[in-house]
Amino acid sequence: MKDPGYYRNEYGKQKLLENDLPSGPVELFEKWLLEAFEADLPEPSAMTLATCNNDGRISARIVLLKGFDSSGFQFYTNYKSQKAKDIDETKIGSMNFFWPEMERQVRIEGTIEKISGRDSDLYHSARPRNNQLGAWASEQSQPIQDRETLESQYEAVRKAFEKQEVIPRPRHWGGYRLTPDRIEFWQGRENRLHDRIEYLTDASGRWCNQRLSP
Ligand SMILES: Cc1cc2nc3c(=O)[nH]c(=O)nc-3n(C[C@H](O)[C@H](O)[C@H](O)COP(=O)(O)O)c2cc1C
Repeated sequence: MKDPGYYRNEYGKQKLLENDLPSGPVELFEKWLLEAFEADLPEPSAMTLATCNNDGRISARIVLLKGFDSSGFQFYTNYKSQKAKDIDETKIGSMNFFWPEMERQVRIEGTIEKISGRDSDLYHSARPRNNQLGAWASEQSQPIQDRETLESQYEAVRKAFEKQEVIPRPRHWGGYRLTPDRIEFWQGRENRLHDRIEYLTDASGRWCNQRLSP
């Protein structure tokens, strides 16, 4: 096995310079995400979502970004999961996108809230039937006896909805939106002199940016 202590990677495929920045961080995120999709990266919309409970214990896991605009960044999950409990308690979170092939990282921090039931319904209705059934069948983050129990729960749900063309959204499943107050873009550069541009919101909610040392 390669010793991680001696593993080195050189960066320098691209630059992130002030003169090339679009009008705001959401526009820059859109550009980078689009480029990640165009480069055919595996799971370009996957991010690490970190949440925190009242005791200050932090927990991180991968989720998929399902939408974004100037109001925030959305993902979907189980409202009884560990992350949902954390969000109920502290309402803060952080998202981290890493696109190694592009030598890019984006860090997004802010507050998280549930999206409307209507918006969750809309997204749920567009999911494949099997995924909808999966949301009904799994008590996410709860212990379960064995694999067979999970599969029999799925089968029970499948049977229960067999005659229904439309599967309703489970009340325990839906979307969240992270409203950002900090977004940082990292572009790998030569000699570890990476580009870092940090956007922060000012008192009036407008984005300002500054360069950070790598
Ligand atoms: C590529 C990938 C994508 C995932 N996407 C989601 C997702 O969109 N929503 C979700 O709830 N869990 C997703 N998961 C599972 C989570 O990482 C995690 O196991 C689950 O949400 C339970 O986390 P929690 O116990 O911290 O709440 C994904 C995992 C991977 C590896």
